[in-house]
Amino acid sequence: MILPALDRRSVIPLYYQIQQRLLQQIRSGELKAGESVPSEQEIAAHLGVSRMTARQALKSLCDLGITYSQRGKGTFVSASKLEKNIRQVLSFTEEMSARGLRPRSKVLCFEVVPADEEIATALQVAAGEPLFKLRRIRLADASPMGIECSYIQERLCPDLQRRFDPSSSLYRILSQSYGIQLAVADEVIEAGLASGEEARMLRVTKGSPVFMFTRTSSVQSGQPVEHVKSTYRADRYKISHRLTRLNRELLT
Ligand code: GLP
Repeated sequence: MILPALDRRSVIPLYYQIQQRLLQQIRSGELKAGESVPSEQEIAAHLGVSRMTARQALKSLCDLGITYSQRGKGTFVSASKLEKNIRQVLSFTEEMSARGLRPRSKVLCFEVVPADEEIATALQVAAGEPLFKLRRIRLADASPMGIECSYIQERLCPDLQRRFDPSSSLYRILSQSYGIQLAVADEVIEAGLASGEEARMLRVTKGSPVFMFTRTSSVQSGQPVEHVKSTYRADRYKISHRLTRLNRELLT
């Protein structure tokens, strides 16, 4: 194992430095999907850190879905599908950055449109209410991951077209410029097949499997802010979640 030495004078925590070095090896292909990641003991001995620090670094990669561990066998690099986090209201920018990927967007349209019946119902506004329509191809580094079409209430963020560079993070500008902190989202996930147009934009063949997400995001008070229809490549994403048998008696 060759991991570059740590910078002990830096304010960046040691576990994070280790995480970033391992990520770099995974991104460069030095560590490939299915290969084992150095163990806690190896990292601790090689870099002169405590086992706890090494464990924290390995755990952070597992939590991001970049690696997985098998009891008694070790930790391995996950296959190239990204695990979609469906437990938290995250932005595309946050999800990609957490995985060490560079979030990018190709803007297809950013305009004001009247709300149709379906979107008006989701956003709890009258049909015809002006909404920003923002349609983008979302990329991780140079690879297209999905197409997102967001409808945002204009009256909640007037001037958005002037203040916001639509190729950057929508959630960041909503928070920083308008104080809108999205807190909850209702999301429906369906399976679908890429249309010709989607396939071209996602660089897959027409009819490739996709995940179709419909999300309505709201602030803590329950006020809906954004309604989004997204199409994500099923060859680049997987969805996993934790189930529990606790409290099942409440259903009966
Ligand atoms: C995720 C959500 C979208 C949301 C987007 C905002 O991808 N599924 O509903 O519009 O994040 O991302 P960003 O803040 O990077 O523009």
